[in-house]
Amino acid sequence: MNHQFGHAMLEHWSLDPEILYLNHGTVGVTPNAVMHVQQQLRDEIERQPARFMLRELEHHSRTPPAHVPRVRRAADLVAAFFGVQGDDLVFVDNATTGINAVMRSLSFAKDDEIVISDLAYGAVSNTAEYVARQSQARVVRLEPPFPDTSSEAVIASFAAAISSRTKIVVLDHITASTALVLPVREIAAMCHAKGVPVLIDGAHAPGALALNIAELGVDWYVGNLHKWAFAPRSCAILWVAKERQVDLHPTVISWGLDKGFTQEFDLLGTKDPTAFLAAPAALEFMGMLNEQAMRQHNHELVWEVAHLVASRLGTRYAVPKSMTSCMATVPLPISVGSSAEDAFKLQHLLLYQHKIEVPILEVRGRLYTRLAAQVYNQISDYERLAEVLAGLV
Ligand SMILES: Cc1ncc(COP(=O)(O)O)c(C=O)c1O
Repeated sequence: MNHQFGHAMLEHWSLDPEILYLNHGTVGVTPNAVMHVQQQLRDEIERQPARFMLRELEHHSRTPPAHVPRVRRAADLVAAFFGVQGDDLVFVDNATTGINAVMRSLSFAKDDEIVISDLAYGAVSNTAEYVARQSQARVVRLEPPFPDTSSEAVIASFAAAISSRTKIVVLDHITASTALVLPVREIAAMCHAKGVPVLIDGAHAPGALALNIAELGVDWYVGNLHKWAFAPRSCAILWVAKERQVDLHPTVISWGLDKGFTQEFDLLGTKDPTAFLAAPAALEFMGMLNEQAMRQHNHELVWEVAHLVASRLGTRYAVPKSMTSCMATVPLPISVGSSAEDAFKLQHLLLYQHKIEVPILEVRGRLYTRLAAQVYNQISDYERLAEVLAGLV
């Protein structure tokens, strides 16, 4: 494959050429080659849908004993890619679903504490709020330092939030709006030393970071493959440490109840399994790009343009390079506003008047733009954005 990253790479995607796409972080884009594999899977299913869905896809009483179900074969390949065993990994529709399965399987008592940061994704924060409400537990929301930040300061902010009542820490691998790579391994070790299990929201991590889940020493890991790992929507993984698998159930209960972790999750009613089954092809596509070269390109590009955009707007990108992946959240001048409504209007204007798709986000009363860098992006994309933003502000 051509390793000339930048606009030459756009031939591998079906993106609208009229729009400058700088939002791979919010909604990932599936390469054509992977969509083709997914279509082949759909064609295969339609030739004999009952055989595929009832006998070949997952464990079933009708499955021939020697047959490894298709979803398990895909799970094994994906698990190996992320340094874990297939028996400990299931597919889920998205990070939200995986987080819900974990949190809603746990039991909390009155005054138990769920520790989560104010930079966590809204839907995940809502899930914590919901499960706490069911049992009069409490959500403890810490505020990690941002935009001036460091790994040490983030670790200290989590350490300070843990008490004898803490029952779980929910921790982002890469935070949502603020795109910070958090020191997951160090925070998990600190939590375990205090006897507290850790759930990682790695929605952005697969494909964005060199991810080896086993090395992180966490209890549960949820990651989207439909953002940076090129899988079709919707496709995510839930990895669970052996000792945490016993009482874990999907939020939707189906035929696998009490048949063990993987069978509980492998088929939740009749649904299209092709996004899961195409996941290995997505990882192969990443291999063809040269995974390491891809990550280096995205990381170096976003690092450079974060400073470029900030300097054009008269602001400062203060996040250290070690906490930046392939996204960077750059402050906008105060004059553009401070509310979520202001952010929405500006994002709308950029798309509908200037044909640029990029998130504008409100964080703690200040507006930011979150830049994403994928192999099809190049510096001129961000120069154009900086030009337009400078004109608007
Ligand atoms: C940190 C984080 N967690 C969870 C999610 C939710 O992902 P999904 O919509 O695929 O469930 C997102 C989405 O962007 C996110 O940024």
